Amino acid sequence: MKTTFQALDQFLYAHRAFWQLVPFEHQCLPWEHAYPALCKWLKSISNEELFRIDGERALLYTYLSPFFPDLPTVLQLIENIPQQSNEAPEVPEHFKQHIKGRKWQQIAQLAATLGESEAYLDWCGGKGHLGRLLSWYYENPVTVIERNADLCEQGKGFASKYDLPMRYVCADVLNSCQSHEFTQKHHAVALHACGDLHIRFMQSAALANTDKISLSPCCYHLTVMEKYQPLSIEGRFSKLVLRKHDLKLPLQETMTSGQRIQRLRHQEIEWRLGFDVLQREITGNTQYLPVPSIPKSMLSDTFEAFCLWAAEQKSIQIPEQINFAQYLEQGKQRRQVSARIDLVRHAFRQVLEYWLILDRAMYLTDQGYEAQITQFCAPEVTPRNILIRAQKG
Ligand SMILES: C[S@@+](CC[C@H](N)C(=O)[O-])C[C@H]1O[C@@H](n2cnc3c(N)ncnc32)[C@H](O)[C@@H]1O
Repeated sequence: MKTTFQALDQFLYAHRAFWQLVPFEHQCLPWEHAYPALCKWLKSISNEELFRIDGERALLYTYLSPFFPDLPTVLQLIENIPQQSNEAPEVPEHFKQHIKGRKWQQIAQLAATLGESEAYLDWCGGKGHLGRLLSWYYENPVTVIERNADLCEQGKGFASKYDLPMRYVCADVLNSCQSHEFTQKHHAVALHACGDLHIRFMQSAALANTDKISLSPCCYHLTVMEKYQPLSIEGRFSKLVLRKHDLKLPLQETMTSGQRIQRLRHQEIEWRLGFDVLQREITGNTQYLPVPSIPKSMLSDTFEAFCLWAAEQKSIQIPEQINFAQYLEQGKQRRQVSARIDLVRHAFRQVLEYWLILDRAMYLTDQGYEAQITQFCAPEVTPRNILIRAQKG
């Protein structure tokens, strides 16, 4: 793990100018002088082509490797993560009624992968769907820890309906220590617990000497820390300084959405960037000015209405007789720039995620565990399909 981590670390550090940047802040491609060939290619591709390349990992790497000749070697290190192929348990239809298709696939495949244990702990488990399946399938007790009392109540309802030995602990895991809930015999599991939640999970489980720890991390940016604090000893040697914006990069791979949703997403970006050009001119501000999230219904209104709303949010006075169409046009041009910067950033997305995963796995190794990195389902089911499995050595 250490050598892979070091190779990824060096690669990410050497190429940080290509991924550690905020695309919205740039009015033109930032690598024009240093990397003219890359910029020439980025400008030559159509929006449709860009969208196609961005939508498929293999294609993205094929197109970008000529500009980053060490990319394929680094990718080789993170390819072939073993996929656990345990068969998902068959359950009665009514058991999974409340769970959406892809979520169910994740839960079922994870439950199969985790295997049998004397007891489980489902960290930040929501209604405890995963815990419920584990308890039903392996016929063993499960403790679910969850902050939302309503979800706990609903979970308890399901558990009693199926007469399962489940316990719900309603607690805020960031504001109270829950290590006492872990026992050595537990297989402690955290499925998609965001940022600090899965970090607290690993720390609590390791503190309690829990035999088996499994987690599928997500939302690395949801942390109180301004800068990323590496967890492992090896990680602390890294020269990388990761801020929240950088930590969002691994999550910039969404499942393909419908054309209407995509069109609205593009329109929203154009409006935000168009408003940004306007506010810069009015206020003299030279920084990108983010505005709060908007209700989707606003997107069926006009760009002008959006600008007036955004100006009000930011206490900016818009002068009369503004040619909004001109700013919208500039917004469209800036979206083309930011999409091209993002395309390049996306070539580093998986490498950065693997760096973060290795930091977590090595942290568990530092704590005396044998850690393994696997895939618990196909990336089409969820791009957050990596599972770190650790067992007390
Ligand atoms: C992304 S959901 C994952 C739920 C479940 N593990 C799954 O994969 O379906 C994260 C869960 O963490 C819970 N949560 C958020 N902050 C928490 C906290 N501070 N303490 C305990 N639970 C928390 C949320 O209520 C939510 O149910």
